[in-house]
Amino acid sequence: MENFVSIIDVKNYVNQEITIGAWVANKSGKGKLAFLQLRDGTAYCQAVAFKPNFIEKYGEVEGLAKFDQIKHLSQETAIKLTGVVKADERSKIGYELDVTDIEVIGESVDYPITPKEHGTDFLMDNRHLWLRSRKQHAIMLVRNEIIRATYEFFNERGFIKIDSPILTGSAPEGTTELFETDYFGQPAFLSQTGQLYAEAGAMAFGKVFTFGPTFRAEKSKTRRHLTEFWMIEPEMAFTTHEASLEVQEAYVKHIIRAVMTNQAYALSELDRDVTVLEKYVTTPFKKITYDDAVTLLQENQADNDYEKITWGDDFGSPHETWISNYFGVPTFILNYPKAIKAFYMKPHPTRDDVVICADLLAPEGYGEIIGGSERATDYEYLKTKLVEFGLSESEYAWYLDLRKYGSVPHSGFGLGLERVVTWITGNEHIREAIPFPRLLHRLKP
Ligand code: 4AD
Ligand code: MG
Repeated sequence: MENFVSIIDVKNYVNQEITIGAWVANKSGKGKLAFLQLRDGTAYCQAVAFKPNFIEKYGEVEGLAKFDQIKHLSQETAIKLTGVVKADERSKIGYELDVTDIEVIGESVDYPITPKEHGTDFLMDNRHLWLRSRKQHAIMLVRNEIIRATYEFFNERGFIKIDSPILTGSAPEGTTELFETDYFGQPAFLSQTGQLYAEAGAMAFGKVFTFGPTFRAEKSKTRRHLTEFWMIEPEMAFTTHEASLEVQEAYVKHIIRAVMTNQAYALSELDRDVTVLEKYVTTPFKKITYDDAVTLLQENQADNDYEKITWGDDFGSPHETWISNYFGVPTFILNYPKAIKAFYMKPHPTRDDVVICADLLAPEGYGEIIGGSERATDYEYLKTKLVEFGLSESEYAWYLDLRKYGSVPHSGFGLGLERVVTWITGNEHIREAIPFPRLLHRLKP
C-alpha cells in the first residue's frame, strides 16, 4: 500500500517518520508506555507509544483515545502505524519505532494461538495461523533460501531445470506406496519421483534437474515422512556415480553455506548451533559401503539398542541415526543390496548382489536426505527388471527407448527438501518444514 516501509528496511530511515503495515504479534504496557511487537512477514520490530506525546500532539481527548486504542490492540490486529525510527541496541534488528499515529485496518478477536503453550494437534489444526509465529517464519525463510541456493547451484553449473509430470502411469519407487486416481476411466498415479523423466531430459539436454512435489502413500507415522514432499532431482549424462557423489557433496555444502550466510537471522531465531553446520561445510563427507556399515552395526550391537541387523536388511532409522552419529558428518552408504533398491539402478560390475548407488545420511538423527544411483543402461537388463518388479512393459516402453537410442552412462539423485530443511533448522519433526504438511492422518488445512 501507499509508501509502506517494510520492517526489514526501517534501518534506512533512522530519525525519520515512516508508515508500516503490520500485525500485532504481542503487546505489553506499563503506565504511560505501551509496547507493540509487530510483524509484517519481513521481520519483527517493537513500537513504543508514550502517552504524554499523544496528548501533546492530539490534545487531551483525542490523544487519550488514541493511546487507549493502542493499549487495547488485540493479538493479530492488522494496523497501519506511523512512527519515528530510533536506533535501539536492545532490539534484535537494532531499531524501534516511536509511535505517532495508528489506524486499525483489520480487527482480530480471540486469536486462537496465544503466547502460551499449545499441543501439536491444536497447532496443526490451525496451521494456517501457526505459520505466522516467529519460529515458523524462520523455518520458511530457511526453506526459501535452500530453494534459491538450489537454483543458483545448478544454474551456475549448466543444468537445465525441466518439469516432470505429476500425473503418471508409472510406479518407479515401488507399487505399494501409490496414490491412485481416475484419469478419464484409466488409472493414474501421483508421481513418486521425477527421475524417469529427468533421465529423458538428460539424454536431451545433458544435465538437468527437476524440482516438484512427489507423493508416497506411506502408512508410516514417523518424524521423517510426509505423504507429499518436494524433491530436487538432478540427472547427468556421461556421468559415473563417483562424479555424481562429488556433485551431491558440493550441493549440500552449498546449501548449508548459503543458509549460514543469508539466513543468519533465522538460524539464531531457531537457536541452531552454527558451529556444527560450519563443520559440515568444511569437513569431507564420509563414505562407507553397505557391507561395512552392516559389519560396524553388528560389532557395536552389544552397546546399543538398535535392532539386530543381518546383510540384506534395509536400515531402520535407529541404524541410520547410529551410523551418521558415529562419523559425525554427512555419510554416504554405498552399494546396497539389489533386492532392497529400485529396478533402474546399475548392477555392480563384479558382484551380482549389490547395485551402484548411495544414500546420504545426515548426522544428528535426521536420516536419509539423498537417494541416488548410476542408472542401468542395458536394454535387455532393464526389460528383465521390469518383469521382476511386476511393472508393465508397455507403460515403460518410452523409458526403455532411452536405452535404445544412444544409451550412455548416467547418474542422478534425489534430495528431499523437507528432510534437509528439518536438519538445517535443527527441528524435531518434518511437519514444520513445509507450509501445509500432508501426513497419514492429515489433509487439512
Ligand atoms: O530415496 P528416494 O525414494 O529416491 C528416489 O525417489 C529417486 N528416484 C531419486 C533419484 O535418484 N532421482 O527419495 C529421495 C529422497 C530421500 O532421500 C528423502 O530425502 C526424500 O526423498 N524422501 C522423503 N521425504 C519426506 N517424506 C517421505 N515420505 C520421503 N520419501 C523420500
Ligand atoms: Mg531412499
